[in-house]
Amino acid sequence: MTTTGAYKSTNRSTNEYASLRRVLFEDLRALESLEKEVFLDLAYSRPYLRSLYDMFRTTWYVADHDGDLAGYALVGLASNKTDAWLQALAVGNRHQRQGLGSKLMDKALITMMEAGVTDAYLTVDPRNEAASRIYERFEFTLVREEDDYYGNGEMRYVMHRSLEDNPYDGADPS
Ligand SMILES: CC(C)(COP(=O)(O)OP(=O)(O)OC[C@H]1O[C@@H](n2cnc3c(N)ncnc32)[C@H](O)[C@@H]1OP(=O)(O)O)[C@@H](O)C(=O)NCCC(=O)NCCS
Repeated sequence: MTTTGAYKSTNRSTNEYASLRRVLFEDLRALESLEKEVFLDLAYSRPYLRSLYDMFRTTWYVADHDGDLAGYALVGLASNKTDAWLQALAVGNRHQRQGLGSKLMDKALITMMEAGVTDAYLTVDPRNEAASRIYERFEFTLVREEDDYYGNGEMRYVMHRSLEDNPYDGADPS
């Protein structure tokens, strides 16, 4: 396992709109609602959220805005211990465009750095302007396009950032 570069949490992570904390079991109900609100028919089910909680709760952060679960970022560390996938990034409709997506992305990359991850991956629908904007700003680049990523006919871009060659230092990438 390689741990690279110094990092610091700065920039948009200091935004005061919401505070970030680790997920709690009690958050699963609110997370189920958030999933349905933003991902519609691709929402993670409650049983799957429970499994994700068991596997990834130490690398799963939620954004709390006045007691409201406003968003979350879930990092899945791969079994090879060098790769990680951003399993999900979501901000509730009424909390968007406040910098929360960026703040959660900052936390996700710091989490990966702390775990010694060398290769960060994610998928995105290229029509998703907000998500694409964040991922490009955080220096993810296209690896490949998959026409039928989920087996439901939807295409996704697979994107990658090397944290070995390009360690995340928390500097504002905008
Ligand atoms: C993608 C998402 C997490 C962004 O969250 P957010 O809190 O609104 O993001 P931010 O406020 O940090 O804005 C990030 C950037 O996206 C831009 N943006 C936000 N909403 C946008 C929209 N609807 N259309 C175009 N750009 C948008 C912002 O202007 C900002 O751009 P900048 O980097 O030039 O300043 C949020 O829109 C969301 O949860 N969408 C539904 C779920 C989803 O698509 N998740 C990603 C799956 S891959």
